[in-house]
Amino acid sequence: MKKQKTFVYRCSSCGHEEPKWLGRCPDCGEWNTLIETALNAARNSRASAGKNIPQSLPLSAVDPHEGSWIKSGIAELDRVLGGGIMRRSAVLVGGEPGIGKSTLLLQTAAMAETKGRIVYVSGEESAGQIKMRANRLGISGERIEMLCSGNLDDILPILDAAKPVIIMIDSVQTLYSPEAGLVPGTVNQMKFCSFELINWAKEHDASLFLAAHVTKDGIIAGPKTLEHMVDTVLYFEQNDGDSRFLRAAKNRFGSVDEIGIFTMGERGLQMVEDPSVLFLVNREGTLPPGIATAAVLEGSRTLLVEIQALVVPAKGSISRVFSDKIDSGRVSRVAATLEKHLNLRLSDHDVYVNVAGGMRIAEVGVELALAAALYSAKTGLPLPSKTAIAGELSLAGEVRPVRRNAGRVKTAKNLSFEQFVGPNPDTGETETSPKDASIHNVTDIKSAVKVLFK
Ligand code: TYD
Ligand code: MG
Repeated sequence: MKKQKTFVYRCSSCGHEEPKWLGRCPDCGEWNTLIETALNAARNSRASAGKNIPQSLPLSAVDPHEGSWIKSGIAELDRVLGGGIMRRSAVLVGGEPGIGKSTLLLQTAAMAETKGRIVYVSGEESAGQIKMRANRLGISGERIEMLCSGNLDDILPILDAAKPVIIMIDSVQTLYSPEAGLVPGTVNQMKFCSFELINWAKEHDASLFLAAHVTKDGIIAGPKTLEHMVDTVLYFEQNDGDSRFLRAAKNRFGSVDEIGIFTMGERGLQMVEDPSVLFLVNREGTLPPGIATAAVLEGSRTLLVEIQALVVPAKGSISRVFSDKIDSGRVSRVAATLEKHLNLRLSDHDVYVNVAGGMRIAEVGVELALAAALYSAKTGLPLPSKTAIAGELSLAGEVRPVRRNAGRVKTAKNLSFEQFVGPNPDTGETETSPKDASIHNVTDIKSAVKVLFK
């Protein structure tokens, strides 16, 4: 058996360790400073050299409020973050160029409910450009310290001097450090610099926001590697219009179900506090075929969204599904269920599905409305107007209960929908009166179609 090594060569000048003796320390460059040191002694001396010797403590003794929140001043951001900006946390904000990452960081810097300083580091824009944006947004920014550099050697001393409570880095792609290699802009540079900044923030009780560019298809080679280093990952998405959706892909401090909804306007990002009607289309009279309204959950909110379907004979020998807002696998499954249980021939047709307002919907409760839109599109029969639909559809054609059905009914009623077609309510939910004639509880796709297309 190989004997385990019990000593290292430690530099007496900088503490760097090497497994083999060298004439010159590769870290600090001093000559003849590497000294053979027993491993345990090396560990102990390193521990006592540091001021903060890490110590464990019983879980029962941990103060849950240790890292407290700072309100960002932007309620939609707080919602996605899980309550506010956690002290000693790092948040990655990803999104395509032009989506509004810099605007969000600047607005947060201006609005955050703290008396502390905020350092805004930009490697992308000049101070003048940022000032122009700030003017447009009506931000005076007395407590915002600007630094236009991507060099970590410039940034860290500024942080040491300013002692900010919030640090904005715009963006991680512009960070570099001579220590991490000669070429700026590599993944290695980005990881090294982000790691140093995250450490700085955690050691100094600050919160760090890192903006990161993401390509069109949402895949990011570089920033993806940062995801495990940060506490929270937010992605900014855009629909076809002015709306912007902020979603959490990872959140150590809250749910990842919540989304923040903004519109980008003249004066920057505006919050959309009541988005329940944002995805509806104002329509008078009878609906065109292929249109259904779904009551879906997005985090803690119910949204009413218009689902649009179009079914045309397949152009090729293979029929296709075109749907980017609702997973096309889900569309195919619902179409197959309709074909099997209602004899609705869809398999030789191309199917197009869209969501008004460009919202991406992943919630399972959209399935019954999707089925209704497809049925309506294929048969040419319109759905009744002012009707909201919710429900999951099983492969056996059953309509399955969905979470918080009563909440969906309530929102639909508030928005003056006259009918609600959904699953039998969960036994736990007793708020909806079963005698309410405007609420139709259906158990399978056949009975749903009977109610909707009488
Ligand atoms: P920006 O925050 O620069 O995006 P990112 O940092 O993600 O690249 O914002 C980009 C877009 O937003 C830009 O096209 C201009 C637009 N915008 C407005 O429409 N109104 C405004 O008040 C601001 C500041 C930007
Ligand atoms: Mg930017």
